[in-house]
Amino acid sequence: MTDSIAPETLTTDDLDAQTLSRSLLHWYQASGRDLPWRKTRDPYKIWISEIMLQQTQVKTVIPYFDRWLQRFPTLSDLAAADLQSVLKAWEGLGYYARARNLHRSAIVLVEQFSGQFPETLEDALTLPGIGRTTAGGILSAAFNAPLAILDGNVKRVLARLINLCVPPNRAMPYLWEISQSLVPLHQGRDFNQALMDLGATVCLPRQPNCGICPWNSACKSYNLGIQNHRPMTESKAPLPHKIIGVAVIWSPKGDEILIDRRKPEGLLGGLWEFPGGKVEAGETIPDCIQREIQEELGIVIAVEEKLMTIDHAYTHFKVTLNVHHCRYVSGEPQTLECDEIKWVTLAQLDEYPFPKANIQIIQALQQLGPRTAIDADGVSSDG
Ligand code: ADE
Repeated sequence: MTDSIAPETLTTDDLDAQTLSRSLLHWYQASGRDLPWRKTRDPYKIWISEIMLQQTQVKTVIPYFDRWLQRFPTLSDLAAADLQSVLKAWEGLGYYARARNLHRSAIVLVEQFSGQFPETLEDALTLPGIGRTTAGGILSAAFNAPLAILDGNVKRVLARLINLCVPPNRAMPYLWEISQSLVPLHQGRDFNQALMDLGATVCLPRQPNCGICPWNSACKSYNLGIQNHRPMTESKAPLPHKIIGVAVIWSPKGDEILIDRRKPEGLLGGLWEFPGGKVEAGETIPDCIQREIQEELGIVIAVEEKLMTIDHAYTHFKVTLNVHHCRYVSGEPQTLECDEIKWVTLAQLDEYPFPKANIQIIQALQQLGPRTAIDADGVSSDG
């Protein structure tokens, strides 16, 4: 394993694991963060926190975590809930597969594990949405298991500590070996929490605060003065950019809007949306909206003025949503490319889980209020 590692990179043999873990635990006692999921040993609550924290920052997660536990206080409450209410509680956190996996796992745990979160790595890894670092995080926090973690922050800390001379994702087995070699047998819980805090508060991506780091004397990158150049990065291709036409389709009376539920697969599967789709080459936004609505719902609409433009970045692509007010003209809405369709009032929009980029549309619509009605001659009711 170590044959392919550059000579200036440290190996497990070069690291004094006991000194490193002691100094980190000492620092954690004085400087660790006081976080809600650290006040419990309940594996269910810790599992929820670890899933929420997978792609989301601590300060965003805290209110969601508190609300989630009020809504679903136990694993059996989650297993008994319907998916829509689970997605609603997740609304705004993004990466909705996490919520679907939590719900699916809760059902599996009730049916196959007597409603208890498993204590072994092997069993935990069978659950959807749980990889090795999440399993290590949960089992160490809940049961004090001496299992390594390796999330983004930890990769950065370890890459700097050992002066890894390739991007971390090209040396994962090696980094796992380093991480595991440092975990003390009887202090897996505090060690892993401390390592996460070191990454989140001291060993920052830019301008790490090496002066206060408990590992500075051992850190190979710091000692070479190259901590700002570690970890090494992959050169990245720009993200693909999708330009989307989005329809806010008003009912003839101007008091209801047509929304649809996406099919269960894919990034935003199962969520509700304002219908629309990708602009094709040479197409205008109104042409795109008219075509997409005909293809998706089988109805004719009139595309009216622009409501807003929203730019949003997902992990693998960027989107620009061009949102237009539209007026229903004719045809019976059909679920041609979605799972469900509903006419809803502005107030009812709050009851449905929408992707994050759509929340701005809902807020703008609720501020504007209902649309004026059009009479049979196409004249609006306010003159
Ligand atoms: N990120 C992932 N797990 C975490 C935890 N337990 N505390 C803080 N940040 C985290």
